[in-house]
Amino acid sequence: MTEIRTPRLLLRRWTDDDLAAMAEINSDPQVMRWIGDGSVRDLDETAEDIERWEEEWDEEGFGLFAVELLASGELIGVAGLSVPEYLPEVLPDVEISWRLGAQFWGQGYASEAAHAVLEFALQDRGLERVVAVNRVGNDESENVIGKLDMVLDRETKHPVYGFALNIHTIDLTEYEA
Ligand SMILES: CC(C)(COP(=O)(O)OP(=O)(O)OC[C@H]1O[C@@H](n2cnc3c(N)ncnc32)[C@H](O)[C@@H]1OP(=O)(O)O)[C@@H](O)C(=O)NCCC(=O)NCCS
Repeated sequence: MTEIRTPRLLLRRWTDDDLAAMAEINSDPQVMRWIGDGSVRDLDETAEDIERWEEEWDEEGFGLFAVELLASGELIGVAGLSVPEYLPEVLPDVEISWRLGAQFWGQGYASEAAHAVLEFALQDRGLERVVAVNRVGNDESENVIGKLDMVLDRETKHPVYGFALNIHTIDLTEYEA
């Protein structure tokens, strides 16, 4: 079972027990504002997400981790790797992304998880490069990207929704945690 421990977090595979907490996070418009078309996701949609994330783990050997607080065991969100099929122009690059419940913002958890994910991408999966795709205007996410030393490669448009996206990359062969 793939698990990563950081000073404050456990990154792990998903279980059925995560559904309610993840659905709560996905139901918050503030959290979902910059994701997909900005719609919130209900319990059934969240169950489909978790199923898809677990399938990706099985098929690719990487995926989006459930992020848990070590101190309390609470699920605080999701961070990890995925194949960005919605944006064919960046394939075959793998995408790093993150999403935390709003009450867990501003404590450095997203950056802590993201650093661990980059290390996993390189050490465990042997990926030499990952991308971060961010909607222009999502400054909180851009801040995390900056702390990972990812560099802006180019701006593009979402193929379905048309809004502006920034594509950042990192050469993991140069990465130091
Ligand atoms: C994007 C998102 C994950 C960022 O979360 P975040 O909590 O702001 O990010 P960080 O983990 O970097 O923490 C930020 C702040 O915590 C503060 N902080 C408090 N305690 C800290 C600690 N012990 N260590 C580090 N930082 C700490 C820092 O001041 C930091 O701000 P700074 O970088 O300006 O100094 C969050 O806003 C989110 O979930 N948004 C909705 C989903 C989304 O848009 N995802 C991206 C699209 S995929």
